[in-house]
Amino acid sequence: MKMSDDLATAFNKQISMEISSSIAYLQMAAHFESENLIGMAAWMRSQSEEEREHALRFMDFVLDRGNKVSLGPIDMPVTDFDSVEQVFATALQQERDVTAAIHDLYRLASDQGDLGSYPFLQTFIEEQNEEESMVDTILERVKLAGGESSAILLLDSELGARDG
Ligand SMILES: [Fe+2]
Ligand SMILES: [Fe+2]
Repeated sequence: MKMSDDLATAFNKQISMEISSSIAYLQMAAHFESENLIGMAAWMRSQSEEEREHALRFMDFVLDRGNKVSLGPIDMPVTDFDSVEQVFATALQQERDVTAAIHDLYRLASDQGDLGSYPFLQTFIEEQNEEESMVDTILERVKLAGGESSAILLLDSELGARDG
């Protein structure tokens, strides 16, 4: 069953937000690559892939409901970072913004009684809990490392070992 036009517009905005997140993580990957933090770069690349997957899942959902997909505008990422901590703090803020957007989307769907989108959105609400907690843990570990090279390098290899 088709969604209302304004719910479909909100879903479309979410597709673009996931694409923006994917680009932002790719930018962070490139940044770490230039800093020779190859583990962190690999972690960011796979995070970027995940966000692209999210975008595709939102896109397929909109299409399956029989609504139209229109991409954009896509927000461009922050390109300059002063520290590892700043990169992960930016990532955490981004995840929090996505969580808030998905909560808004769920509220709109629920105001409209759009039952067909509840289960889909609930999986993303859960996904966001995990993503926020994961990025928050990394950020806290970066803070513990306190800019000390040996500690940062250890964390770098740890993040490089991420599978999926
Ligand atoms: Fe996402
Ligand atoms: Fe995410």
